[in-house]
Amino acid sequence: MDRIILYGGNRLTGEVNVSGAKNAILPILAATVVEGNESTIFNVPNLRDVEVMEKILLALGCTIKRVDNIMWVNSKPLDQVKIPDELAREMRSSIILMGAMLSRCGEVIISYPGGCEIGPRPIDMHLKALKDLGAEIEESYGFIHCRASKLKGTEIQLDYPSVGATENIILAAVKAEGTTIIRNAAREPEIVDLQNYLNKAGARISGAGTSVIIIEGVNEFKKDVTHYTMPDRIVAGTYMIASAITRGEIILKNIITDHLQAVIAKLKEAGCLIYSDENSLKIIGPERINSIEMVQTLPYPGFPTDMQAQIMALLSIANGISIISETVFENRFKHVEELIRMGANIKTFGKVAIIKGVKELTGTKTTAKDLRGGASLVLAGLVAKGRTEIENVYHIKRGYEDFHKILKGLGANIELVE
Ligand code: EPZ
Repeated sequence: MDRIILYGGNRLTGEVNVSGAKNAILPILAATVVEGNESTIFNVPNLRDVEVMEKILLALGCTIKRVDNIMWVNSKPLDQVKIPDELAREMRSSIILMGAMLSRCGEVIISYPGGCEIGPRPIDMHLKALKDLGAEIEESYGFIHCRASKLKGTEIQLDYPSVGATENIILAAVKAEGTTIIRNAAREPEIVDLQNYLNKAGARISGAGTSVIIIEGVNEFKKDVTHYTMPDRIVAGTYMIASAITRGEIILKNIITDHLQAVIAKLKEAGCLIYSDENSLKIIGPERINSIEMVQTLPYPGFPTDMQAQIMALLSIANGISIISETVFENRFKHVEELIRMGANIKTFGKVAIIKGVKELTGTKTTAKDLRGGASLVLAGLVAKGRTEIENVYHIKRGYEDFHKILKGLGANIELVE
């Protein structure tokens, strides 16, 4: 079982070219099946989740070629409607294939996604919206069987700006009869990237990035598509914390700084110096990190829940008491007990954590329980005294390309033991 081993104390310096976004490429790969066409996608990250999506598309009959960070997907030969059970279970976000497959084939069979490490992940809003668009949905024996001869555009008011539900509705509505309006839609930048990809293929979507998205259904997509995947704002945020926590000086390239405003604001509160232009930034970590009165995770453009664990690692060595309120997911504090094993002083009350900064962390054996929690243990290990060992690295590989190699390049004393 892969493990990461690191020795803390080194100040990190240097440059990082940020890779393409996991949470953008997954819905875009799902979108490649909407029409039988060829997609050429650049800046595709090398991640475990991308490999799973690739396997699903191959199992559906698509052909795929990949060279480094470029992927060619030909979805013309698609001839299956059932998503392989074991693959769907491996990656929750395969659920967004429902909308795409309904657009393409009018039918899809997929296993019910269970909960995951960060809590129950219901899909009630996805199913309700697809029914509103006219899909018949049968749920039995752990599977969801959706059918629709022709979806019909309608108005959908989401109870919560769910990222996945917004993406599923867009993918189902692009070829529906008439116009669909999503209100209280998710505003994440990854939704804008999906809109851009689909519009290049011939869709008519507007409003992504705002809470009202309008999709005019079209009969067919005409074009093959070439798309450059947006950079990963969560990967960028994670390296910003690596700089902050080690009193480092790191330059991030190939980012969209605008996507990082909520993270930048909090890291400035923590005492970091940040200089930026549109597509790059330099972050210098302070000698002593300031505590932050409140970090509340919220849908975009609020502070991302996917950065919660990483900023907790930083605040565990801050000067004073910080509070984190996790409002998006039920159970996203699994990293707390591992950080406490490293000497952190953290108390949780439901979805609120109170972090009393300590002078130093100490290295020990730890276990990654989920993707971002795993990243927070690596960040804590960068400053912890002595040796830190992190097990279950497969969680981290789901969302970070060459994490240990890039940190090593910045001066960390780190290795991956396979
Ligand atoms: C996306 O998940 C991201 N995943 C998550 O990133 C991210 O944490 C999340 O959005 C929030 O930003 C991908 O894009 C692949 P949601 P998603 O639907 O779409 C509840 C990472 O670390 N909800 O916006 O699953 C839900 O339980 C991952 O990269 C319902 O109740 O998130 C949650 O509490 C982790 N019913 C909240 O809404 C529904 O039908 C937000 O979920 C749908 C969601």
